Amino acid sequence: MTRLGELIRSEIQRGGPVSFERFMERALYHPEHGYYLRDKDPFGKQGDFFTNSQMQPVFGRFIARQIEQWRREMGSPPEFTVVELGAGRGETLAEVKKALPDVECIAVERGTGPLPGGFTGVVYSNEFFDALPVRVVEKRGAILTELLVGLDEERFGWLAVDTHDAALEQYVDRYAPGLSGGQRLEVNLQALHELERIAGALERGYVLTIDYGYTAEEIAAGRRFPQGSLMAYQSHQALEDVLTEPGECDITAHVNFTALEERGRDLGLDSLGLRTQARFLLDLGEGDQFASVLAGSEVEALQLRLQLKSLLIGMGETFRVLVQRK
Ligand SMILES: C[S@@+](CC[C@H](N)C(=O)[O-])C[C@H]1O[C@@H](n2cnc3c(N)ncnc32)[C@H](O)[C@@H]1O
Repeated sequence: MTRLGELIRSEIQRGGPVSFERFMERALYHPEHGYYLRDKDPFGKQGDFFTNSQMQPVFGRFIARQIEQWRREMGSPPEFTVVELGAGRGETLAEVKKALPDVECIAVERGTGPLPGGFTGVVYSNEFFDALPVRVVEKRGAILTELLVGLDEERFGWLAVDTHDAALEQYVDRYAPGLSGGQRLEVNLQALHELERIAGALERGYVLTIDYGYTAEEIAAGRRFPQGSLMAYQSHQALEDVLTEPGECDITAHVNFTALEERGRDLGLDSLGLRTQARFLLDLGEGDQFASVLAGSEVEALQLRLQLKSLLIGMGETFRVLVQRK
């Protein structure tokens, strides 16, 4: 068992089973041993996964282009701020800064404090919501159970308990009403909280969210993710069991875009729709046949084309893009 595994195990021995949200919080963000906070870099070839952000500079040029379009549509306000939530290594924001030097760019990471207050601009994120710790529920007949993490001898195991937690029940009723018997679901209450932070800080502008995800309609009656969407990644391989090796692998849950859209509406964020990443990039690039995102020396051209191909083909259908406007 990993050092972090031992710490979680003794927490369970002392206080009883914990929510998966607690387990995931420790696994990813424990100050010393958490996956995102330990010394080893999780991103890129030597790490565990690639994100869009490693496809630079092309990805950042697309994001900058979208931001510039919105800025113009808004009448080019003199003060315009771009906030990236969960900026990781900050590659995308660096490209945005290069393309739009007069825009204020702020990277918000876990623990960097509140978002700037009352700004005009854009809140952008890539694979931020899927990295937030989630609780897990399972419908058993008509009853909603919560799956906690307990100990099965020395190993971690799932433990179903009847839940009468109003927050979980309301989430399911509103954002996953078609859940069928036996189906599992991740409940991302932290995503709703983050959306509140965003809506509270943004006075006027856009929210651009890129992530893996689904809609309530798609998962109804177990059509997608009957066993939930939790995944663990290590060295570019998907691991079946998300409870093994906490701290040594990434853990993600697909994002419920219906929840972001519906909760967003309550908070004054109008949804302008959900598209695949491929559609989003094509809509941005078709005007000039991708000339500006592929601009570079002859030597760079091949690399830029490969980046574009990965963004469109490899990642183009799996990632979705949600745009909201306030
Ligand atoms: C999967 S990584 C994505 C990083 C980057 N956006 C990319 O595309 O490569 C998720 C990032 O979200 C950050 N994060 C998680 N919870 C956060 C929070 N509450 N506020 C800000 N950042 C957070 C993590 O530290 C991590 O850097």
